[in-house]
Amino acid sequence: MKIPRKASSLLAELTLEEKASLCLGSDFWHTAAVERLGIPAIMVADGPHGLRKQPDEADHVAISGSVPATCFPTACALGSSWDPQLVRRVGAALGREARAQGVAVVLGPGINIKRSPLCGRNFEYLSEDPALSGVLGAAMIQGVQRQGVGASLKHYAANNQETDRLRVSAEVDERTLREIYLAGFERAVAQARPWTVMCSYNKVNGVHASQHAWLLSTILRGEWGFDGLVVSDWGAVHDRVAALAAGLDLEMPPNLGVSDAAILTAVRAGRLEEGVLDTAVARVLQLVDRAAASTQPAAVVDLDAHHALARAAATQCAVLLKNQDHLLPLRPNAGDTIAVIGELARTPRYQGAGSSQVNPTRVDVALDELRAAVPDQVEVAFAAGYGIDTTDGDQQLAAEAVALARRAEVVVAFLGLPAADESEGFDRTHMDLPANQTALLARLADTNPNLAVVLANGSVVRLTDWEQHAKAVLECWLSGQAAGGAAADLLLGAANPCGRLAETLPLRLEDNPSYLNFPGEAGHVRYGEGIFVGYRGYDALDRQVSYPFGHGLSYTSFAYADLTTNLTGRPQDGDLVVAVTCRVTNTGDRHGKEVVQLYVGDPQASVARPVRELKAFAKVDLDPGETATVELALTARDLSYWSTTLHDWTLEGGEFELAVGASSRDLRLTTTLDIAAPPLPARLDAMSTLQEWLADPTGSALLHQAVGIDATGRPKGILGNQELMPVIGNFPISTLAAFPNLGLSHPVINHLIDQVSAREQLATSEQPASRPIES
Ligand code: BGC
Repeated sequence: MKIPRKASSLLAELTLEEKASLCLGSDFWHTAAVERLGIPAIMVADGPHGLRKQPDEADHVAISGSVPATCFPTACALGSSWDPQLVRRVGAALGREARAQGVAVVLGPGINIKRSPLCGRNFEYLSEDPALSGVLGAAMIQGVQRQGVGASLKHYAANNQETDRLRVSAEVDERTLREIYLAGFERAVAQARPWTVMCSYNKVNGVHASQHAWLLSTILRGEWGFDGLVVSDWGAVHDRVAALAAGLDLEMPPNLGVSDAAILTAVRAGRLEEGVLDTAVARVLQLVDRAAASTQPAAVVDLDAHHALARAAATQCAVLLKNQDHLLPLRPNAGDTIAVIGELARTPRYQGAGSSQVNPTRVDVALDELRAAVPDQVEVAFAAGYGIDTTDGDQQLAAEAVALARRAEVVVAFLGLPAADESEGFDRTHMDLPANQTALLARLADTNPNLAVVLANGSVVRLTDWEQHAKAVLECWLSGQAAGGAAADLLLGAANPCGRLAETLPLRLEDNPSYLNFPGEAGHVRYGEGIFVGYRGYDALDRQVSYPFGHGLSYTSFAYADLTTNLTGRPQDGDLVVAVTCRVTNTGDRHGKEVVQLYVGDPQASVARPVRELKAFAKVDLDPGETATVELALTARDLSYWSTTLHDWTLEGGEFELAVGASSRDLRLTTTLDIAAPPLPARLDAMSTLQEWLADPTGSALLHQAVGIDATGRPKGILGNQELMPVIGNFPISTLAAFPNLGLSHPVINHLIDQVSAREQLATSEQPASRPIES
């Protein structure tokens, strides 16, 4: 349909009924059209790592049967790339395919924090860290949107499990929400300006995200400046009128005849201001305009090029966990046999199940790719070793695999999780590989010690029960339709592993900080570990882990030197910047990439803070012997915590520890930095304790003045009583008014509070306004 005028100019011409209809889709994947005015319907489609467009004639609720599209590495893999440029390229390819299919908005990326290794959708999410999730989420949005297609940042917010996902209330304290669960969304919104944000299914502190005015309006639009449309997750709306009032613009899929009727009734009864409806409609019309405004020619999709990109991307995501004796890359000689063992080498698992499931344009098989790539006269022999859909050991399959391992120079075992173990819709109950696979591995290792493991899994697996059998472990995640080719490239050294863990691999599930509070019960999940999610928790508890956040080896090696910091600006002026540089050299004999990670700690904080937090990173590409100077920058926000008394980001002056390294536990260079910041306002009142009054310089001075001194010059009353002070120093000052001989009568306290409030009013008027993250 041709649009005669911009849709957004037509708001005033719409009837009430038409406006109500625009706040709902017209079917599972389309917005509503208004034919009379030439407002077209636009189409949205999943998903984060490839397009899942259901053809018009298909069963839209079904997961399979979508039009063929390139299946890129899933988010768990892309998260491990630590490479925003790569993610932007993948996003651009996804955007091109969407445009070519007439899809206006791609429903991704999903950037929820991986709170527990058990979350069924961890394969669809990027990291346990909000900085990494935010940077990569922003890159994906930029890539998609530069093609003239919108992205939908999801699932906002605190959707960190699948158990009871439509009803559960995530009970998260204010600081934890701000520092962990909202921070990635904030960064992605500020840096990439997504056309749409998708609210999550769950409740957050008792209110459904679809009806959460604080999340959807106060924070998302008010504080972060989001100017796009909020769409519901599919089926997340329970009360259309309450959702509209909270800031949810578009309900998907539409509850036709119910939600539109409810809106009309509420407006006519005066329970919903028509202005609120108009605002939502204006955002729908703006989205229609954005979709129509793309000036680029219709996308031409080169599926071969996209497959090649999927393969290159998958090589950049794999994490080499260990590589004893430099077993990898394989260096077969003529006459050698490589034993490829494991059904997953022949029947690849490369994506997860649920709404993100792509119908791939083709699928690489690792076994075939290895056979095609080895030098002449090298045999790549195969034995299945185990069945994928069972955990029982098939003795015949295992015996054949052992026999093959015996006659081979080297064994490559492809292991991983069966599809039934991880999916949208349910959480896992354990993090183990299937028993038939680990049992087989032990037997293979007894037969041939030159054993490498290639892993295919979306959520992390426990390693402690089998890792000792393998000299090398290459974690390939669910890496898309070209995962098989990428595995061959990596195993044979055509590509050098450069992925880094975007989440910690714990020794045991029980060590995970969320363990006692996952997945909750009776409709509630308490985020009891607070800000200590992932490595923040493992580090605070000093727990050993299998492999730490940020870890990943290479076929080459890197040396770090010359850490410098240069501080400019002042926090009170809002322009503080710490420029951090270091030099990284490729000290090995092959080209490779290093991810330089900058962590910050505030050891003397007045609130509990993580030992260290990732605040910046850069992936550098180095030839043998080459050195690069890496430049990273920190702002006041990177040094701040969220204060639950000031309800703002707060920078506490003092010493900070800065470290650059190759992982959160492989810190190569460290330094300290003294940051001068104005003292925090103490907010003293009648319920502040005597100690709190004394800890504040002005409060203490006022208190001493009010109580006075005796003839010998000693403070009177409680201030001069060193014996009593430790006993009642933690009493609120108003309580002490009733205690005799302390010098703290009610009139004295009232006077103190008057003086202190006058001072605070003055201080507030002088504070710079807090600013959102700069793009
Ligand atoms: C999922 C979303 C998805 C939507 C549409 C929901 O069940 O949570 O991530 O975009 O379905 O398929």
